[in-house]
Amino acid sequence: MKKIKIFSPATVSNVTCGFDILGFPIESFGDEMTISKSDNIGVRIAKVNGYPVPSDPKKNVASVSAEKLIRHLKPDCGFDIEIKKNIIPGSGIGSSGSNAAGSVFGINKLLGEPLTTKQLIKYAMTGEGVSSLTEHPDNVAPALLGGLVMVKSTEEENIISLPIPKDLFCFVINPKIEVKTSYSREILPSKVELSLMTKQVANFGSLVHALHTSNYNLLRSSLVDNVIEKHRKKLIPSFDKVKTKCLELGALGCSISGSGPSIFALTKGEGDANKINSEVSKIYKETNIDFSTYVSKVSSEGIKIIDSD
Ligand code: HSE
Repeated sequence: MKKIKIFSPATVSNVTCGFDILGFPIESFGDEMTISKSDNIGVRIAKVNGYPVPSDPKKNVASVSAEKLIRHLKPDCGFDIEIKKNIIPGSGIGSSGSNAAGSVFGINKLLGEPLTTKQLIKYAMTGEGVSSLTEHPDNVAPALLGGLVMVKSTEEENIISLPIPKDLFCFVINPKIEVKTSYSREILPSKVELSLMTKQVANFGSLVHALHTSNYNLLRSSLVDNVIEKHRKKLIPSFDKVKTKCLELGALGCSISGSGPSIFALTKGEGDANKINSEVSKIYKETNIDFSTYVSKVSSEGIKIIDSD
């Protein structure tokens, strides 16, 4: 194989109490990337279509993660990367994660899969370091593996795919304003009060149990973030109004997607997600901020191969 074209999904990360450890892909929305082998050693960003991202290989998340992988695998060829950028950078739905994961996935395939998909996570994370200054796994892991993925650490046995109850849907609204992950992290306190830590751990534990038992009532009481949301919500216009509406309309939980400005809600069934979509859209139309919305299954599909030769 000399060339591979892939679809790499947008992802929701920080799933409420799962800050920096839990994420899932959005169905049918993401970036396309084409990765080609070249006789020229090294990695290049050959072309970018759509939203702009750096073409300097030292600043582009896709080439930075690819470079890290290549340093490990030492192939006797180089790679050219083309990106069709559909996810706006700084949107909170894994714009950088999509490309950081896509390049290492493509290169690993082109080299005959020397590494497992789980082993690619730590290389993809280095790309995240470029844009957010922290190598968090909660976008790249679900982009690579699909499904609701919890990353305790990058050792394979600590990358855990959690079960997805069959009626679990999500609604996502992406206000078209940029929130830089690095800034959104900078405003977080470095210490957490003990009582909040207890609540967050209890919620995360019961969330995992609720997923294993498809217990929607327990899901509803567990999908709460006591630590991060309150500091970041000021970056997102009408966050409280949107959240109140989502919960009023039956959402199991609602919080900030990634580092914002996107907001997500989880629902039991597609009907509630659609209702939320039309009511939250009304709220956002009043802000005069352009936005996109998505209603999707909590998707079990990660990066897909579109074409290869
Ligand atoms: N967990 C990361 C953060 C996600 O909240 O900073 C960024 O997309």
